[in-house]
Amino acid sequence: MATTEELQTLVLTTLDKQNEIEDSVALKKDGNAVDQLALLGALNSLKSKEMVDYKAIEREVWTLTPEGQQCVDQGSHEARVFAAVPSGPEGIAITELQVTAKLGDAAKVGQGKAFKNKWIAKNGANLVRSVDSIVDQTQKELQEIQSTSTHKDAKVLADLKKRKLTDKQKFTSYKVVKGPQFSLEIKKEATDITYEMLQSGEWKNATFKKYNFDAAGVPPAGGHLHPLMKVRQEFREIFFEMGFQEMPTNCFVESSFWNFDALFQPQQHPARDAHDTFFIKDPATTDRFPRDLMEKIKRTHENGGDTGSIGYNYKWKEEDAGKLILRTHTTAVSSYMLYQLAEKSKVEGFKPAKYFSIDRVFRNESVDATHLAEFHQIEGVIADRNLTLGDLIGFMDVFFKKMGMDKIRFKPTYNPYTEPSMEIFSYHEGLKTWVEIGNSGMFRPEMLLPLGLPPDVRVIAWGLGLERPTMVKYGIQNIRDLLGHKVNIGMIKEYPICRLDKKMGKELVGLSQD
Ligand code: PHE
Repeated sequence: MATTEELQTLVLTTLDKQNEIEDSVALKKDGNAVDQLALLGALNSLKSKEMVDYKAIEREVWTLTPEGQQCVDQGSHEARVFAAVPSGPEGIAITELQVTAKLGDAAKVGQGKAFKNKWIAKNGANLVRSVDSIVDQTQKELQEIQSTSTHKDAKVLADLKKRKLTDKQKFTSYKVVKGPQFSLEIKKEATDITYEMLQSGEWKNATFKKYNFDAAGVPPAGGHLHPLMKVRQEFREIFFEMGFQEMPTNCFVESSFWNFDALFQPQQHPARDAHDTFFIKDPATTDRFPRDLMEKIKRTHENGGDTGSIGYNYKWKEEDAGKLILRTHTTAVSSYMLYQLAEKSKVEGFKPAKYFSIDRVFRNESVDATHLAEFHQIEGVIADRNLTLGDLIGFMDVFFKKMGMDKIRFKPTYNPYTEPSMEIFSYHEGLKTWVEIGNSGMFRPEMLLPLGLPPDVRVIAWGLGLERPTMVKYGIQNIRDLLGHKVNIGMIKEYPICRLDKKMGKELVGLSQD
């Protein structure tokens, strides 16, 4: 078979002589037709250099099946049956046709056709000839298909296909014309600019190979999941197993409205300071949050609104709520989801809900071995009528047990949006001490009532970092080895969550996410 270079030269010299190649089926290399698929490769390469352009010509070609080929070589089934029947009144026994005449399977088909053509007839249990000679039409038709790849009579083609003697295939050839860069010589294209090219100045005249953005690429044959993503997946599976739905957390930029205001976090709260939170410069603000909800939240902050609370007693400002930030916690998404749940409840009635998310949050912190300005939060939210703190504690026990932490303790704490609020501690076998792992609580009525949830609906929620359990599991001591360019994704040390040796554990105690 001709090489790509030979085919390219053939195309270029042919175009040089006759300006265009009307149909590449006619192209001959050393007297042989060229393989159209190989030609396509050569054409694509020339086209990428704009030396030629081409259009595909599609046509149907008819070929013979092995059985069809046998009919061409030995005669059709019916002709072979006719030949096997001796002339004269005696003929041949039907049972003998298959065996003696060695017709095999052809005997049955051939008989049917020969009867239909009135070439033979029955005489008792024997077959006799009805005519002296025959013309094997089927063989002739097949011969025509063999030499022309088609037949002028479409019905013939259809019949022979039904008899499985022919087959239809698509065949593509090409009409080729000169391109704007047509030349007989193929310039070598550079794929990269090199130091030598810059030195010699050669880059100025070099032609560069164009990027092929359509390349499908080679499917990856190796690689690793990022350790953080592995642990994330394990947590996701725990949540799914417990009937939780995943919250959409793909927007890192959030309004202060959902991140703080909807969570009954006052506007003077220190967390809203640029020291703790990243503010977006452009665009700096948004007004895309529900107006009626905004009014309710404003009143709740100022004087408690309809919640029975006295609020924070300050002047609430829309412009503060509109400030765009990198979300500081995924609870921003929880507040939005609870609002959606409340809206849906108004139409369909309230249905209990369990939500979770595991995604990135951002805090304006100075970066050190155990702190980063961004990390992943695991967040869980359960909304149902008349939930109690006992439900939260009971649920935490089950949830953390599934994660391999079977000794859990709680300590009261303060969050603007939960009451009561509890820090979660897990007993560390390696360290023989209690380590803080997360934060939890029951969302306050000042948060839930403005969102529009029925008054007897309680929402319990908790949040924890993903990095700490991952560092424990993989024995990573510096958070910068887990995120960023230094991460070793091939790490294989498997540590069960919360079962780490003393040395490693000490490093991790200081890893606080809040
Ligand atoms: N948002 C809290 C944090 O960032 C976690 C939390 C979620 C606390 C839900 C209570 C309820 O630490």
